[in-house]
Amino acid sequence: MEIETKRQKAIQLLIKQGQLPTSENIAEILGKYDVPTMPTTGPIKKPGVEVLKSYEYNPSKVTVRDFSNFFKIRYQNLKNLLFNRTEARDAVSIHHAKNRTEKGKVTIIAMITDIQKLSTGTVKLVLEDLSGKITGIISKKHTEVIEESSFISLDEVLAISGSCVKDVFFVDSFVYPEIPSKPVNYSKDEAYVAFTSDLHVGSNVFLPKKLQKFINWLNGKEGNAKLREMAAKTKYVFVLGDIVDGVGIYPNQNTELDVEDIYDQYRLAYEILSQIPEDKQIIMCGGNHDAMRIAEPQPVLSKKYAADLWQMKNITMVSNPAIVRVHGIDDYIGLKVLMYHGYSFTYFLDKIEGLRLAGGFDRPDYVIKYLLKRRHLAPAYGATLALPMKIDPLMIHEVPDVLATGHLHKAALSKYRNTIMISGSCWQDTTSFLEKVGMHPDPAKELYSRTY
Ligand SMILES: [Fe+2]
Ligand SMILES: [Fe+2]
Repeated sequence: MEIETKRQKAIQLLIKQGQLPTSENIAEILGKYDVPTMPTTGPIKKPGVEVLKSYEYNPSKVTVRDFSNFFKIRYQNLKNLLFNRTEARDAVSIHHAKNRTEKGKVTIIAMITDIQKLSTGTVKLVLEDLSGKITGIISKKHTEVIEESSFISLDEVLAISGSCVKDVFFVDSFVYPEIPSKPVNYSKDEAYVAFTSDLHVGSNVFLPKKLQKFINWLNGKEGNAKLREMAAKTKYVFVLGDIVDGVGIYPNQNTELDVEDIYDQYRLAYEILSQIPEDKQIIMCGGNHDAMRIAEPQPVLSKKYAADLWQMKNITMVSNPAIVRVHGIDDYIGLKVLMYHGYSFTYFLDKIEGLRLAGGFDRPDYVIKYLLKRRHLAPAYGATLALPMKIDPLMIHEVPDVLATGHLHKAALSKYRNTIMISGSCWQDTTSFLEKVGMHPDPAKELYSRTY
């Protein structure tokens, strides 16, 4: 039996047994792999690197109650943020809005649990909070609100103003959790940070020569004098997941692999990444192609499969998502980077009409801005397989200096309210799979900026 089919069978078996498929228990069922000695991770704290949030969470069994509590936590967290907005300060519960005697405008904070575009042009919503539900109506006469509603996502939490007549809420406007525009702090010394993602080592369209050029640049052997100077001053390299192409990630993937063994894929990734000079700190998280569970937060890369990478002195492994502060030296507070591979992006580009019309897969910066405004990396539950933790790691509690992502294989560098938004390019040419899902990769594209 093909390894891919075996892997799929193992996953089905684990799900049947009520267990979450992790790389470890899949390998256990396959019984195929030799498990190398667990590597040492080296010193936990690397110079200039401070891991603020990295999640280790391995639930053995998840119940329906865990999910309902998870939604309550998400609602409560976002409600607290919305209460900080002037427009939502006087918000009341749905129960209160339905039963109040005063007439006039009222604001509620609700989760959107259904969206229907009626043939008449009216949009019908189901709005829900901890006190109950109500039908929301956006009249087609409110053209601006109708247009805005093309950006609304299931499960997102918004403040909604309008008038409540019996059991119907007529929507006038929406207020988002939003990020504030915070001042930019600068360090006294000039230092650079490089961001990259989606190496896909092992794929038959992996681009090793182009990746080697990037590594050569980091070694000061590529580019003009200005670029070499920039490389010398680059102290940190963030790698945002999909380190390898993986095995059994999509149907018939084995026909598109040059390296079919997951250990060999990570070994090859090590051969390349270990050429990065040791004075540059590498911070790495996994993505949906890496050998681990797909449910978020994804843990650190497997110590079994990526053993060589783990042994590198200048690497810090973190979960996906994670928050890492770099270069907090002397009186400079450091650059706070929210790392997220970006698995949820494809859901929003597929489901949210407004994002599709605004540029779709070609404008990753719009998706990142969309999520920053909503203070959540996956406001729709269906966008990722999120694990129901007691905290919500996908929520953007703290406003980062940088939100760095990958997954769309499309380079973008932009800014929203002083938060830098980065979407990584990739080191893999187009595959049949990417074409099928409507992505337009931008392999080996560099974007530089000295001005942020
Ligand atoms: Fe990727
Ligand atoms: Fe990905």
